[in-house]
Amino acid sequence: MHEPGKILVTGASGKTGIAVCKALIAKGARIRAWVRQEAYTSPLVVMGIDDFIIGDLLDDSLAEQALRGMAAVYHIPPNMNPNELRIAENLIRAAQSQGVLRFVYHSVLHPQIEEMPHHWKKMRVEERLFTSGLAYTILQPAVYMQNLLGYWQSIQRDGVYGIPYSIDALLSQVHLGDIAEVVAKVLLEESHSYAIYELCGPEALSARETAHRLSQHLGKPVEAVEIDREVWQRNMLAGGMPEYAVETLLKMFLYYEKYGMRGNPNVLRMLLGRNPTTFDEFLAAEIHKFDQE
Ligand SMILES: NC(=O)c1ccc[n+]([C@@H]2O[C@H](COP(=O)([O-])OP(=O)(O)OC[C@H]3O[C@@H](n4cnc5c(N)ncnc54)[C@H](OP(=O)(O)O)[C@@H]3O)[C@@H](O)[C@H]2O)c1
Repeated sequence: MHEPGKILVTGASGKTGIAVCKALIAKGARIRAWVRQEAYTSPLVVMGIDDFIIGDLLDDSLAEQALRGMAAVYHIPPNMNPNELRIAENLIRAAQSQGVLRFVYHSVLHPQIEEMPHHWKKMRVEERLFTSGLAYTILQPAVYMQNLLGYWQSIQRDGVYGIPYSIDALLSQVHLGDIAEVVAKVLLEESHSYAIYELCGPEALSARETAHRLSQHLGKPVEAVEIDREVWQRNMLAGGMPEYAVETLLKMFLYYEKYGMRGNPNVLRMLLGRNPTTFDEFLAAEIHKFDQE
């Protein structure tokens, strides 16, 4: 059955997926959500989503079923996954065979970086889209401001922000809410086919500067600390993180340490029609939420 206007979102229950689904629902879009497990559907059901594909993104026949009758797909690739390219190829093939011409891809800032496998694989996916015959759009977000929330407990409890690379490495950051707003715009407007958009917030920040801002906002000292990478690696492996993910993250930390990663906010400003969210606005909002809990 053809479902006019319906959008398939992959990785829908992840960090990016939840934000994207929220933004699309707020704009009145209808969604089919692809999640790995039944248990992951609850936050999406709460949003009003009732159409799910449940299973592995590597499953070709599921990809055909997922794309059937869709108007567009928003593909959010799995995080640090050795099969990222195969998964995207399956989806591109299924979109072609099901006649779903709109393919919007969640890539990353600077996919050209060969030293980081999860960037390089996204570059390969972008190449596949160029030759796919599909009306693609590629979004290239910088590091999310929200990644900081993974360190929230030790920041609040111990006043320590510990990362396994130089605390002076400069990284452009972007608010996930801004990205989600752009995703909805790009999917629901007509004019974005064949565009590649770099999505960066207004500032590149080091961990040292991040800790300084945290101290100001929290009204107590927060110190940025560089963690030994070997210690980090042992802890992650002991905690059950897959070896491929650990190795890929280590390559990313080394790259960040050597070069940082910086982009430009002009494209995001143009797409939002306003200034992108600043890191200080993000911190103020998160601390307010934390105080309300
Ligand atoms: N975080 C950043 O700063 C940032 C910046 C730019 C781009 N990105 C890119 O954004 C993408 C998504 O990141 P995220 O932080 O949203 O990741 P995430 O929270 O881990 O979400 C990914 C989702 O995909 C699901 N998934 C993974 N492998 C699957 C498979 N084989 N079959 C079905 N579902 C599968 C995961 O389920 P499970 O939990 O079961 O694995 C999870 O729900 C990544 O490719 C990342 O490189 C991230």
